[in-house]
Amino acid sequence: MAKFVKVMDSEDLPIGKSAIIRIGEKEIALFNYKGKYYAVDNKCPHKGAPLGEGRIEECIVICPNHEWRFKLETGGSLQNPELRTNVYPVRTKGNFIYIGLETDSRTAFGKDPSKLPSSLNFNISTVQQPINPDETL
Ligand code: FES
Repeated sequence: MAKFVKVMDSEDLPIGKSAIIRIGEKEIALFNYKGKYYAVDNKCPHKGAPLGEGRIEECIVICPNHEWRFKLETGGSLQNPELRTNVYPVRTKGNFIYIGLETDSRTAFGKDPSKLPSSLNFNISTVQQPINPDETL
């Protein structure tokens, strides 16, 4: 079972925002897409560009570098069925978001999807650290 690490206050990740979280050796891109949270490896499996700076269309993250597309729910590539990025389970408890450190094809708990447009741009400025890497669910 995955160890869930408390990464951030959900108020700091409103709908349409993303964050890059560094946990140990991993960098994980966390998205709030229409009120649901999704976490994938930040490093694009093509040439390593930060997926956390990509844009989202229809629950697909588009790499900012060469625009390869990965499904947020499964990590699957739309260009190459044999290629995928890792996805991580996300949970919420109270106001906080937790990421499970073992990869998992399941996705987030979140609020009901909103009626925001399906194409959103995500811009993040800094890489963040977990609030408390030792606190687990
Ligand atoms: S680095 Fe992501 S598509 Fe090339």
